[in-house]
Amino acid sequence: MPDRYAVVGNPVAHSKSPLIHAEFARQTGEPVEYGRVLAPLDAFAATIERFRAEGGKGANVTLPFKEEAFRLATRLSDRARRAEAVNTLRFDADAIFGDNTDGVGLVNDLVRNLGVKLAGARILLVGAGGAARGVTPSLLEAKPASLTVANRTVPRAEELARAFGAPLVARSFAALAGEQFDVIVNATSASLAGEAPALPAGLYALGATAYDMMYGKGETPFLASARAQGAARLADGLGMLVEQAAESFFIWRGVRPDTAPVLALLRSLA
Ligand code: ATR
Repeated sequence: MPDRYAVVGNPVAHSKSPLIHAEFARQTGEPVEYGRVLAPLDAFAATIERFRAEGGKGANVTLPFKEEAFRLATRLSDRARRAEAVNTLRFDADAIFGDNTDGVGLVNDLVRNLGVKLAGARILLVGAGGAARGVTPSLLEAKPASLTVANRTVPRAEELARAFGAPLVARSFAALAGEQFDVIVNATSASLAGEAPALPAGLYALGATAYDMMYGKGETPFLASARAQGAARLADGLGMLVEQAAESFFIWRGVRPDTAPVLALLRSLA
């Protein structure tokens, strides 16, 4: 009997995680079965309890439940505690262990897959919601020269900067004018509305990378605007999705899958 895992969210039908984990299981020979569980918006904890009672060994948690999963976990990794959000649960005999692999997924995609140097880089993180907060601990661990968070609603960016402290600093979009960055990460949900965040022109340093944590068919509005602004390198969040999944798989199974063929498969299906 394979061990059971699932992605839990609402909605969850569109999730690529079952395909990714099926590929990881095939590649590593781990006895893993990975499904989808739709949790009612008011019954996340009960849904998790039931899945665990039915023999589930762990779960990925997606929107809008990452903060609830953080509260449900009885033991937390440092990075999950700092992010105040959990995307990976492991059901141990005596605890529900909660971790957050989004940040390491982003950093591994940037550094390993795309060859972007984060150490010493000037990084701009656009957005100050759950997605931005989730990746902030890992971006800080990458030892950038600076990490600036900019948000349409400035107090949310200030709040994030206060929570993490130096070197994280907060800016309004307008106050970025005249600054330059080596890496700009879009952690807003603006693409869902078909928009790009209204950033001032001229933010991309020579050779800079634009990274959109979102992905979809075709170029996202943020990446289209980055291209027009002369960003040297553009990437969407599909690599981050595969890398965060690999880190979850490692937390559950103690085995690291090879992400490159799985990312290539997803790209070929896109
Ligand atoms: P998530 O968990 O995806 O981060 P969230 O907490 O609702 O979701 O945060 C959404 C983020 O996208 C916020 O930073 C939001 O900016 P505001 O705080 O000003 O609302 C940002 N966002 C959404 N639509 C945007 C748009 N059209 N332009 C700029 N930022 C946008």
